[in-house]
Amino acid sequence: FDRGLLSGKRVFITAGPTREALDPVRYISNHSSGKMGYALAEAAVDAGAQVTLISGPVNLPAPRRCQRIMVESAEQMLAASLENIDQCDIFIASAAVADYRPSAVAEHKLKKGKEEIMELHLIKNPDIVATVAALDHKPFTVGFAAETRDVIHYAQDKLARKNLDLIIANDVSRSDIGFNSDDNAVTVVGHDLVEQLPLCSKRQLASKIINMIAAKQVD
Ligand code: C5P
Repeated sequence: FDRGLLSGKRVFITAGPTREALDPVRYISNHSSGKMGYALAEAAVDAGAQVTLISGPVNLPAPRRCQRIMVESAEQMLAASLENIDQCDIFIASAAVADYRPSAVAEHKLKKGKEEIMELHLIKNPDIVATVAALDHKPFTVGFAAETRDVIHYAQDKLARKNLDLIIANDVSRSDIGFNSDDNAVTVVGHDLVEQLPLCSKRQLASKIINMIAAKQVD
C-alpha cells in the first residue's frame, strides 16, 4: 500500500444511514452499518489524505486522524457536505441516504388513532452526490450503487445520470456480502473502466478503492 498516495488531498466521505424524523420520538431509516464508509476513511487517512467523514448515526468509533461530523437527516448531510466543498478534491458518497422523508415533522408525539390505516406523506430528499457533482468546480466524485441485477448496466447509467467519475457497484442479491457484513465484493465502474474486486474484508477493499481513486486522480 502506497503511503502518501493522497498526501495534500482533501477527501470528504459520507457514511451510514440517515434518519428522517416523523415526530420527536420516531424516524424512518435503514440498516446501513457505515462500515464501508468508515473503512474508506481509514484507508484515505493511511494514504495521507486530510479526511472529513460526514456520518449518519452508526455504532462505530471515529477513525483516527480524521474529522468526523455527525448528522441525522439527509438535509443535514447535504449541508455538512457542501460546507467547505470548494476545498474538497475527492468526494466519496457511501452513505445510504433515505430517498424520502416525511413531508412534515410533527411538533409533538403523534397519537394512535381509531383508524386501522395510517397514511404517511413522504417527499423526495435531495440527492447529495448529484448535487456535489453538479457544482462548477466539482471534486473527483465517487458514488456507490446497490443493485440486485444488471449491476454493471445500472452502474453505468447512474455514473452518467449523476455526473460521477467513478461508481462502486454492489450486488446486494448476494446474502454473504454488503450492508451489515464485514466483507464485500464490488465492481468498480468508470467511463473507460470495469474492474471486479473480489470478496475480501471491507478494510482491504477500501485500500484497493482508494488506490484506484488516486490512480484516476493523476490520470
Ligand atoms: O440513486 P441511488 O440511491 O441508488 O444512488 C446511490 C448513490 O447516491 C450512493 O453513492 C449514495 O451515497 C448517493 N446518494 C446521495 N443522496 C441521495 C441518494 C443517494 O448522495 N439522496
